[in-house]
Amino acid sequence: MSALGHHGRRYRLLTLFFPVFILFVYSRGAESVTFTIVNMCSYTIWPGILSNAGTQQPPTTGFALQPGQSSALPFPASWSGRIWGRTSCAQNATTGLFTCLTGDCGSSTVECSGAGAIPPATLAEFTLDGADGLDFYDVSLVDGYNLPMLVAPQGGTGGNCSITGCTADLNPGCPKELQVESDGTSVACKSACDAFGDAQYCCSGSYSTPSTCKPSAYSGFFKSACPKAYSYAYDDGTSTFTCAASDYVITFCPSPSTSIRAATDYPVAATLTDAPAAAGNGELQVSSAGRAQDRPASTAAYVALAAVLAVGFRIRSH
Ligand SMILES: *[C@@H]1O[C@H](CO)[C@@H](O)[C@H](O)[C@H]1NC(C)=O
Ligand SMILES: *[C@@H]1O[C@H](CO)[C@@H](O)[C@H](O)[C@H]1NC(C)=O
Repeated sequence: MSALGHHGRRYRLLTLFFPVFILFVYSRGAESVTFTIVNMCSYTIWPGILSNAGTQQPPTTGFALQPGQSSALPFPASWSGRIWGRTSCAQNATTGLFTCLTGDCGSSTVECSGAGAIPPATLAEFTLDGADGLDFYDVSLVDGYNLPMLVAPQGGTGGNCSITGCTADLNPGCPKELQVESDGTSVACKSACDAFGDAQYCCSGSYSTPSTCKPSAYSGFFKSACPKAYSYAYDDGTSTFTCAASDYVITFCPSPSTSIRAATDYPVAATLTDAPAAAGNGELQVSSAGRAQDRPASTAAYVALAAVLAVGFRIRSH
């Protein structure tokens, strides 16, 4: 009787803890990284998200974010892809098609569903859990610029785990030949590659190596205003950042907030002289985005563990 009881308890323990074991294995595989996307602009932004081929998908590929609003999203732990902001979007009442003035992805809907930003657009690029288990991230102006944008790691360690991005409003000071205009206002700034298509600017053809593709006067315009952002394809040394075990806060229009609709009133000289100093002094600030929430998979595992232990306790006490 006692031997049977002993075996019975062992069997119960096994059946109780096997699901817990499976849950922990599963939750490690499904661990997520929290991306908090914040809109500090005075107008609505429609973030767009494009995942690289072969990577798991985040919960959305595009949505609306009102001024002052933020959204915390669980991203797959090994996600790679890009995030950008779309401006002045609207759904056409006749055709039902959704389009944006800048950063449009051409999907005709709020979700981008696998479509990328049509340049020019400021891009935040990520490769999570890459070489040596590090996250690689950058803010890129290689495809031009439409919005000020910051990427701030949260709670990460190692590497050069610091804030990067472009706080300046480059639209008013954008060279005329690179400007995208709407109603006489500059709303985005093309890359020289996009504007002229030269191999020299695009780092293509005989300029397709770091030693042959050099910065140009045009890439210099972007780099002097935003020293931490990519200004041309081989700008890696000063523009790529790395972190381990981090969450990320992505802020559109970090303070001081500027409006593309007020672009013509914005002093160009101040934009170009203030921005590099601010970035160089490490004064880049992320406003009250709030802390990244608990990683959902871990939380789920703890809840499951508590539930199974509670059931086990009830069986044992019978
Ligand atoms: C909606 O689409 C129609 C047909 O393409 C176009 O003529 C019209 O100008 C659009 N309306 C707006 C408000 O953009
Ligand atoms: C950050 O670290 C990476 C990897 O070590 C390096 O390639 C990159 O140049 C560094 N970035 C900066 C801005 O120093």
